[in-house]
Amino acid sequence: MCGIVGYIGTRDAFPIIIKGLKRLEYRGYDSAGIALLNGDMTVFKKAGKVSELEKIVIPGETIANIGIGHTRWATHGEPNDRNAHPHLSQSGNLAIIHNGIIENYSSIKEELSKRGYVFHSDTDTEVLVNLIEEVQKTEKTTLDNAVRIALNEVVGAYAIVVLNKNNPDQLVAARKGSPMVIGIGEDDFFIASDASPIIEYTKNVVYLDDQEYAVINRNGTYSIRTLGNVEKSHAIQKLEFSLEAIEKGGFEHFMLKEIYEQPKAIEDALRGRMNASQGWIKLGGLNEFINRIDNAGRFIVTACGTSWHSGLIGEYLIEDLARVPVEVEYASEFRYRNPIINEKDVVIAISQSGETADTLAAIELAKERQALVYGICNVIGSSIARTSHAGSYTHAGPEIGVASTKAFSTQISLLTLIALQLAQVKGTIATSKLREILYELENIPRKIEETLLLDAQIKEIAAIYKDATNFLYLGRGYNFPVALEGALKLKEISYIHAEGYPAAEMKHGPIALIDENMPVVFLATNQSAYEKIVSNVQEVKARKGKIIAVIHKSDTQIRELADHIIEVPETEEILSPLITIVPLQLLAYHIAILRGCNVDQPRNLAKSVTVE
Ligand code: M6R
Repeated sequence: MCGIVGYIGTRDAFPIIIKGLKRLEYRGYDSAGIALLNGDMTVFKKAGKVSELEKIVIPGETIANIGIGHTRWATHGEPNDRNAHPHLSQSGNLAIIHNGIIENYSSIKEELSKRGYVFHSDTDTEVLVNLIEEVQKTEKTTLDNAVRIALNEVVGAYAIVVLNKNNPDQLVAARKGSPMVIGIGEDDFFIASDASPIIEYTKNVVYLDDQEYAVINRNGTYSIRTLGNVEKSHAIQKLEFSLEAIEKGGFEHFMLKEIYEQPKAIEDALRGRMNASQGWIKLGGLNEFINRIDNAGRFIVTACGTSWHSGLIGEYLIEDLARVPVEVEYASEFRYRNPIINEKDVVIAISQSGETADTLAAIELAKERQALVYGICNVIGSSIARTSHAGSYTHAGPEIGVASTKAFSTQISLLTLIALQLAQVKGTIATSKLREILYELENIPRKIEETLLLDAQIKEIAAIYKDATNFLYLGRGYNFPVALEGALKLKEISYIHAEGYPAAEMKHGPIALIDENMPVVFLATNQSAYEKIVSNVQEVKARKGKIIAVIHKSDTQIRELADHIIEVPETEEILSPLITIVPLQLLAYHIAILRGCNVDQPRNLAKSVTVE
C-alpha cells in the first residue's frame, strides 16, 4: 500500500518523482503529493490520482534537485487533500512520506499534544514526523539519529523518507515491514517502494532490510545502519527487468497485456527447470532441502487472494501426484488462530508481490514453530523471498495491473513442477506418465495462445451480461479454484457481485439464487465427473439460469444445454486450470471495460497489501 519515491542528485527532481509515482500508482491511488527543497520547502498534494496532483502544481515552483513523493492507499484518515502525504512537522522543517501503519500513534499523539503539537490531518504519519522533530529537539541530535530513536518508539510497519529543510544535501529513509529499494546512479540516488521508478536511470540497487535506515547524501555517499545502530553493508544488486516490462507495450491496459503475456510468462517460469524428453525436473530451491521436504509429514500452503486460489490448485496437485497431505490456509487466519505446526511441516508461502503483510506474518509464525518455509514469489528480492528458507521465483515479469493474472498461471506452473518432482522422488508417478505431463506442460503456452484467439467471442458474451448484478462461477475438481478465481476477477474490476462454488455444492444453497437473470459460468472441461457436471448444468437450465460454459471441442452434451460456449483446447486434467482461467480473465476484463471501470486501478484496492 502506498508508493513512495525520493530523489537526490543533480537532475530536475520533479519529473523523476512524478513519473515514479505514476509507475507506483498500482500501490494506491487515493491521493498523491510531493515535497521539493530549493531553499524553501514546497509541497503540493491532492486527493485522487497523480494526474490530479499535476493539475495543481504551479509551474516555476518545481525547480529542485531533491524531493520526495507519495501515492496513497488510505489507512488512517479518509482520502482527502488534508490527509495526503507528504506531511510536515510542526516547524515545517521536516517533510515525511510513509507507507504502512503506526499502530501506537494515538498514545504518541496524545503525548505530543500535551507538549503543544497541533495536528492538521487524521494520519498516523503526521504523528511520526512530529515525534522525529520532538526527538531532534529534545536530544539535540542529527535527523538520522532522531529518526532512529523515534522509530524505536513506534510499533507498526513503515517505509519512510524524510526531507529536512535545514539539510538540502541529505535524505533519510527507513523500513520495517514495507519494501524499499535505493537506486545508485552516477551522481544521484533514487529511493522507491519498488524498482519501477528507478530502472530508467540505473540498474544498480540496494535493498534495505527490515529495521534498517539509510542516510543518503548528495556527495555520492550513503550509509546503512540498523535501528539498533549497527553499521551494515549490502551488496549492490543488478535489476533484471527492462523498461518495456513495466510499460503497456501497445495494449490499452496492463491487465490485458499481462493476460496476453501468459504464454511467455509460463515459458519463463518453466525454463531450465524441466525437460520432457529427458524426464527431469530441477527446482533449485527444492533440491537444496529435498530430504527435509521428502520427509515432510504434510504441507501447509498459505497465501491471500489469487495466490490462495493457486495454493488450492497446489493442494490438488501435491495430494494427487505425490500423495502427501496438504492444507491450504488464508494467511490472515493462519496467523491468528494458533494453528498446530511443527518442525516436520513444510509451509509453502505464495505471493506475487512477496510483500503481503498477512503472508509475512504467517511465515514468521511458521518459522517460530520450526517449520521449513518455501516461498513462491514473483518479485525478486522481495521480503517473502528473502525471509523464506528456500523457494522459487515465478519469473512472470512485473505484474502491474491490480488484478493478478500472469502471477496466477506461473504460480500454478511452479506448483505443478513441485508436485511432479515430489512424486518422482517418492516414486508415486510412473516415468511414462511424468514425461506425458511434462510434454503437455511444454505445450501449455501454445494452447493458451490458441485460447487467447477467443478474445473477440468473449467480448461479445461480455456485452450481453455487462449489466448483470450477480454472477455464479461453478467448477469441480481442479476447476473449482478456477471458479473462485474467475469470480474474484469479476468482482474486483467490474464491481459485480460474483461467487465461485464447487459445482456440486450449488444444490446446498446457491441454487436458490438462480433465475433468468443469473449468469452462471460453468467450467466444464473435466474428463472425470463429466456426467455430474452435465447434471449441474441441467439443474441451472431447469431454473432458467443463463449458462456460459467453458468446454472442450470434443464436448457433446453441455454445448447443447448452454446459452454460450467457449471452446478451449484439451489438455491433461491436472493442467486444465492453466487454460480455463484465461477466458475468465478476458470475460472479467471486457465486462469491466464495458461498464467503464478502471481495470488497472480498481476502487479501494492496491496491488500490494502491506498492512495486516
Ligand atoms: O502479492 P500477493 O500475491 O501476496 O497478493 C495477494 C492478494 O492481495 C492478491 O492476489 C489480490 O487478491 C489480487 N488483487 C487479486 O487479483
